[in-house]
Amino acid sequence: MAIRTVGVVGVGLMGSGIAQVCAEAGYRVVVREVSDDLLEKGLGKIESFLAKGVEKGKVTAERKAEVLSRLEGTTELGRMGQCDLLIEVVTENIETKRQVFQALDAACRPEAIFASNTSSLSITEMAATTKRPSRVVGLHFFNPVPLMKLVEVVRSPLTDPAVFEEATAFAKSLGKTPVRASDKTGFVVNRLLVPYLLDAIRALEEGVGSIVDIDEGMRLDFVGLDTTYFIANIMFEEFREKRFAPPPLLKRMVQAGLHGRKAGKGFYDYAQEPPRPMNSLVQAPA
Ligand SMILES: NC(=O)c1ccc[n+]([C@@H]2O[C@H](COP(=O)([O-])OP(=O)(O)OC[C@H]3O[C@@H](n4cnc5c(N)ncnc54)[C@H](O)[C@@H]3O)[C@@H](O)[C@H]2O)c1
Repeated sequence: MAIRTVGVVGVGLMGSGIAQVCAEAGYRVVVREVSDDLLEKGLGKIESFLAKGVEKGKVTAERKAEVLSRLEGTTELGRMGQCDLLIEVVTENIETKRQVFQALDAACRPEAIFASNTSSLSITEMAATTKRPSRVVGLHFFNPVPLMKLVEVVRSPLTDPAVFEEATAFAKSLGKTPVRASDKTGFVVNRLLVPYLLDAIRALEEGVGSIVDIDEGMRLDFVGLDTTYFIANIMFEEFREKRFAPPPLLKRMVQAGLHGRKAGKGFYDYAQEPPRPMNSLVQAPA
């Protein structure tokens, strides 16, 4: 089945990037959000990303207009019935995702392919809530989507091999580099990256190095600390190995809203220029 129209459900941080790269690759894109406000905000992110490209001379105004003309926003799930591929990019919560897949199942043609952008939840569990388990895959994009080449394409034990191939070809058609994985929690990247991040925090807790020295030694990426904590909990539940358990320091930071760059504070206070390490996190009271 040729993929012409892509449905993107949820146009937050990741969904807006995914909708953008699909429209840039020539697909018609229908984006669904829960409210007009959120829809407008999500589509606005795409508009401003492209506008910056025009300002910098990387994108022409014509190209920007052409990409935007392929995007359609809606709050009605029924509008997703016209799509050949549906990419779910809603909040990382299995109940929410289950509800989305069941509603899409009723609204979409039986041959439409369903994909989830989940970082850590089970594709198999989502697939099993639909009447088309063989047509469900993971398409795990990375942040920021327009700039990151990597996409993990995930196969559950129920996925039809032909659908897995189609999903891989689709990722390539976006100009991305697909990495194929089976549905084991964390897939390839988080399976390796999350224990690495937790080890860095343990190293800080144990006094191996200062925040700056650990940071300079190991170049960090932009995963939020709340996301790291959430994925770690799920991986720990799955594997019961201590190295997947979130360190108490991380839990306290998430409880305190210190989620990292996006929250303005994490291991650094980003309000300062240059960002100042939050040494108080690991200092005993005087
Ligand atoms: N943030 C990252 O770095 C990152 C990286 C890779 C994968 N992911 C995964 O991508 C998914 C989305 O993450 P995000 O960071 O974009 O979250 P986000 O909170 O920015 O966006 C989620 C959006 O989904 C919307 N939504 C919720 N229920 C919906 C529904 N029923 N229909 C339509 N929209 C709905 C919300 O209103 C919100 O705008 C999660 O599964 C997350 O694990 C995130």
